[in-house]
Amino acid sequence: MDKDQERIVSIFKNTFKHTPALFFSPGRMNLIGEHIDYNDGFVLPAAIDKGIWIAISKNNTHTIRCIAADIQEELFVTTDAIQKQDGWKNYILGVLHVLQQENFSVEGFDCVFGGNLPPGAGLSSSAAIEAGLLFALNELCNYRLSTLQLALLAQKAEHSYPGVQCGIMDMFANLFGKEANAILLDCVSLQYKWVPFVLKEHTIVLINSNIHHSLASGEYNKRREECKAGLSILSSLHKDYHSFRNILPEIVEANKSVLPEVIFKRCLFVTQEIQRVRQAVEKLEQQNLKAFGQLLYQTHEGLSHLYEVSCAETDFLVAATRNYPEVIGARLMGGGFGGSVLCMMQDGAAEAITRAILAAYQQQFNIKAEAYFVKPAPGTHQQVTDAAMQSC
Ligand code: GLA
Repeated sequence: MDKDQERIVSIFKNTFKHTPALFFSPGRMNLIGEHIDYNDGFVLPAAIDKGIWIAISKNNTHTIRCIAADIQEELFVTTDAIQKQDGWKNYILGVLHVLQQENFSVEGFDCVFGGNLPPGAGLSSSAAIEAGLLFALNELCNYRLSTLQLALLAQKAEHSYPGVQCGIMDMFANLFGKEANAILLDCVSLQYKWVPFVLKEHTIVLINSNIHHSLASGEYNKRREECKAGLSILSSLHKDYHSFRNILPEIVEANKSVLPEVIFKRCLFVTQEIQRVRQAVEKLEQQNLKAFGQLLYQTHEGLSHLYEVSCAETDFLVAATRNYPEVIGARLMGGGFGGSVLCMMQDGAAEAITRAILAAYQQQFNIKAEAYFVKPAPGTHQQVTDAAMQSC
């Protein structure tokens, strides 16, 4: 048994004195397509083999007790008093709130969750809680929601009490993840296809800068507003420009004079990134990883200079990878303002290069970064245990 799994189950049993149902809810990486899930783009994320275990059981009362094992904090609330609080509790409460809004009966339950997914590292720990809890409650209470409905509800939950106007990518990756595959998701139609992503000679390393971002701090929502403002100007120029996917970067360049400077930069990034994802999928299908990696570097440049969601620490990490020819691509990943950098490097050299980059980072900023070697993995699923499932 995985040691985190054992830990979570044992805390549950010691606290609640019975056997829970057990679920694993993964974090996600995003290969390419950043900040375009809410801008009509295509994204290429994958669930990863790191995540949280959720041990959960109905308790036949109206109380909800939920323990965040990794930080030893507890949420205690009754089902008739679901309201916004703060921090991680809002991920749970947001889920319960949207379920109630949609007229699903929310009953009392006991829950312990935790694992090996660092919060604030750009690996979607919040979506892991929201989508994981929804998945678990759907099983436990027989809500009969489809996987897509779960993803949409999880997104709604994040919009609610946590207040982040996120796109659908994180929840989608969490729920639709598949071993050895990335997911090419059309964020408008929500059509998707799995794209085989098995690296033979390379490995993916996520380097967590340990600069903690808080998307709710407003910068994320501000980017969303800026893009909306840009699209509204562009769409007034031509009837086809109602969606970023119909607008080429050249069109944005040609209309620079009618766009405020910041808005111009945001729109240029979005339209370039939409094109890059198309190219990246082609390169991947041709197994041209070198060219794929170059696109990752280009994305980083755009995130840093046009979308302005990077910071000195993540820029440093990406720049450091350029000292090693064995690294074929690297970029800031996720919402930004800190968080993690995704690096793609040659297998044999990966550990030594990562150690050297971590050391250089510590010397430069006096901050300890952490590295995770990850693989595309299955989405949220139930782990079969001896727990008898109760039904609502
Ligand atoms: C966060 C959001 C996602 C997405 C990324 C940036 O992870 O939750 O919806 O917008 O940032 O690509």
